[in-house]
Amino acid sequence: MSATGSQASTAPSEPPLLGHEYDGIREYDNPLPGWWLWILGLSVLLAPFYVLWIHGGPDRSFLDEYRAEAAAVAKRRAEEALRHPVTDESLLTLTKDSASVQFGGNVFATKCVVCHGPEGQGKIGPNLTDTAWILGGSPTRIYETISGGGRLGKGMRAWGKEIGPAELRKVTAFVISLKGTQPKDPKAPEGELTDNTAPPK
Ligand code: HEC
Repeated sequence: MSATGSQASTAPSEPPLLGHEYDGIREYDNPLPGWWLWILGLSVLLAPFYVLWIHGGPDRSFLDEYRAEAAAVAKRRAEEALRHPVTDESLLTLTKDSASVQFGGNVFATKCVVCHGPEGQGKIGPNLTDTAWILGGSPTRIYETISGGGRLGKGMRAWGKEIGPAELRKVTAFVISLKGTQPKDPKAPEGELTDNTAPPK
């Protein structure tokens, strides 16, 4: 304590000490530098204008920006998934891209609704919105059923012979996306309960 005191008195350029002392620690009266205070003051002054500016328009909203970016990422991932072999993961990646799912929905509307109903609720073919699957409910099993057809004589064709590989995957993504939707007059569940959004165990 006395050492600090004598040091302060021998250095004339050091700022004066404040009056308090805790456990032998004393504090210099060091004012904040002017440039620092200016930056602080300007930041405080500009902050409200910045908040108004950043939330001012729909094109500047963080949420819109985030949504646009998330959609672009989903699109890129979907394009990449289409170049990869068919796996549960690559099919689930497609379900995240709304354009792919929508495309699959169009295929479904033209080729599948006669038997599965416009909302996938089931008619001649089984309900595709529930978690019961006759032929297996993992993404790849659903893909294989659509591509290779159902059991002999049941009426589910092998669509792999009629629609292209990308279309097959996208209509699979659409079928996966039907899970949990609540169509009117759903056909009773058939087959075994499987979660179609999880890879097989
Ligand atoms: C002519 C009627 C018909 C058409 C058209 C049809 N399906 Fe099917 N689908 C069926 C029948 C019947 C089954 C049950 C097959 C079985 O039991 O083996 C089935 C089964 C399925 C299954 C498996 C369901 C389960 O529980 O395992 C999926 C997935 C499916 N269809 C998707 C499609 C898609 C996608 C299309 C259009 C590209 C389509 N179906 C067109 C009649 C049809």
